[in-house]
Amino acid sequence: MTTIERTVLGAGIDRVDGAQKVAGRAPYSADVTYPGMVHAVLVRSAVAAGAIAGIDASAAEGAPGVLAVITPYNAPRVARGPDSGFWRQPPPPLQGLDIVHHGQYVAVVVADSRERATDAARHVAVFYRPGEPILALDDPRAETVRDPFGSDQTRGDCAAALAAADVVIDAQYTTPDETNNPMGLFTTVAAWDGERLTVHDATQWPAGTRAALAGAFGVPEEGVRVLAPYVGGGFGAGLRVWPHVILAAMAARMVDRPVKLGLTRPQMFTGVGHRPATVQRIRLGARRDGMLTAIEHESVQPSAVNDDNIVEAVTQVSAVGYACPNVTTRDIVRRLNVPVPTSMRGPGDAQGHFALECALDELAYEIGVDPVELRLRNHADVHPGLGLPWSSKALRECYELGAEQFGWWDRHPTPRATRRGDLLVGYGMAGVSFFWFQQPCAARASVDREGRAFVRSAATDIGTGTYTVMTQLAAERLGLPVDRVRVGLGDTDLPRAPMQGGSGMTASLGSAVHDAAAKLIQAFLDLVAGDIASPLRGRRAEEVLAEDGRLRLRSDPACGESYREILERHDLAELTADGSAAPATPQELGLAPAGPFAARFAEVHVDADLGRVRLARLVSVVDAGRILNAKTARSQIIGGTVGGIGMALLEETVTDPATGRIVNGTLGDYLVAVNADVPDLDVTFVGEPDRFNPVGVKGVGEIGLVGVAPAIANAIFHATGRRIRSLPVTLDKLL
Ligand code: MOS
Repeated sequence: MTTIERTVLGAGIDRVDGAQKVAGRAPYSADVTYPGMVHAVLVRSAVAAGAIAGIDASAAEGAPGVLAVITPYNAPRVARGPDSGFWRQPPPPLQGLDIVHHGQYVAVVVADSRERATDAARHVAVFYRPGEPILALDDPRAETVRDPFGSDQTRGDCAAALAAADVVIDAQYTTPDETNNPMGLFTTVAAWDGERLTVHDATQWPAGTRAALAGAFGVPEEGVRVLAPYVGGGFGAGLRVWPHVILAAMAARMVDRPVKLGLTRPQMFTGVGHRPATVQRIRLGARRDGMLTAIEHESVQPSAVNDDNIVEAVTQVSAVGYACPNVTTRDIVRRLNVPVPTSMRGPGDAQGHFALECALDELAYEIGVDPVELRLRNHADVHPGLGLPWSSKALRECYELGAEQFGWWDRHPTPRATRRGDLLVGYGMAGVSFFWFQQPCAARASVDREGRAFVRSAATDIGTGTYTVMTQLAAERLGLPVDRVRVGLGDTDLPRAPMQGGSGMTASLGSAVHDAAAKLIQAFLDLVAGDIASPLRGRRAEEVLAEDGRLRLRSDPACGESYREILERHDLAELTADGSAAPATPQELGLAPAGPFAARFAEVHVDADLGRVRLARLVSVVDAGRILNAKTARSQIIGGTVGGIGMALLEETVTDPATGRIVNGTLGDYLVAVNADVPDLDVTFVGEPDRFNPVGVKGVGEIGLVGVAPAIANAIFHATGRRIRSLPVTLDKLL
């Protein structure tokens, strides 16, 4: 490692966009204005099924400042955007009279101010021919989709192993609908210039938004530009191209003015996805010594009647989490009259880990083996499906170090045996084997005559720290101080990038930046290849080191020259190179791609009379491969953990079973963890650089959430002797 690598990466730097954000200078889509811009406000369905019988828009059309009221009766036909490889885009809005969920958009009012549009929207009279909505998972009318993600797995013979097991744990776990609720309300600004469209959006995937808009309006992709340099959080809500994005562009085209459409918080509950509920059944078979002989895991979850399925493989953790010879996993979707769900931080794994890690806890008590010891005994030393060694795995270290840091071994093993006054004290833990993915990505890097680098890509930073870690990575690879590196993101005119999702952006974009930097250094070497004035002439990249704004010979670091000297001598303003990267395959490397791993340890205090639960402390030890910036990575884990505390104790999107209306669709009614719910969170990173990508990283974006709920639920069992198998664990369930 060079000096720069040690100082620039690892411990890390403050966020490069921190001051800008705190000062309100970072332009989010809601901050964008255009001359002559007008405002669109949505009208939502008041029924969950049936059809629109008629709309009287006359009062709204006559209201002051109103330019248009768009309904299914006058909306232009638009197409459904192209499939993404992960999911289909949601069906485009206002294309028919059918109602498939409560809150579906039935009209858009465009006016010269948001206030006037909001007022006029109240005067749009919508008449319905209501149907009988399908709202319960066990409603026999619901369509069933088996193996919706093609991820169901079978290994060995579960039925035989369960029949022969010394011990069988058979339990049902449920998790509720939850809503992503990024802080930034999603806003789209759309402006047409002839057939060219510019859209400012809160999206995790500008390229996906561009493709969907081009497909919807039948215009060439090159003519559509999507800008999302800053996004006020996503947690998955920004992965897809939602109907309001299409409606903003539709409205702008119809009134021939730039249009801003900002969702309200209640609209964020029905219009940008949510984490679907699950009903999971787990059967574990084991020997008396705790060795797992069978895992059978089935999950049923709702999806919308009008949409194809999101990737929400709830049971996959049971296929890869532990060394177990007999495994069956099954995911089942049932179609209901509910808003289209979407991935939410740690999709599938968040719910699946709750069931699996609680079931393992039940097994541990049943056979009298310590929960940490049980997991160590069943540790998957190689990938259980592929049989290949992991590209990296420090899960044993996560368990061992976490237990030590937490003081796990002081725990009295008997439930309800530790009291402090009126409080029952409980320790619980969970292991995490997270699924993540790297995707193909491109980046461009330049160095100019002032010795400044500019690195850019169409990727977004949704608050994760992408600007910062890419600045560090480019600085290290190009041998420049971080304050000489600028990173540009969130613009589809820049090199193509995947979604900021699946915890894969640092690996995806990092590998592309790594490649672009290497190509740029090569471009400098090519430039001086025959340059007799250059000490670097004829040198190959392997012989050269980038450091202090210079390219130096490894064999003689005093010998070399600066980027600036080279560019000046060749009378060039800058040099630019394009880089790209795609994930390797396990077969190429002979390695199984490892996700990040973690162990979580929670202490809870439960009021013995009132059932009130307080999380007292939570220790996370995480193997996420190489950590590029300990500060931003820790922030990711802490942010995810706060979400996990919400999942464990508070969060639940409640739908009225009679009408299909979400009854707690505000942040006043939908509870999330706030400061008072969050104790000190301890985060430690362990492990080695991963061998699957040249940067050595895995993902830290989502694993912070996964495993928190089972660790807390297991601690509640230890405190109280009450096994609550249904999230969130609210006090009514403990009374
Ligand atoms: Mo994440 S749910 O992949 O944004």
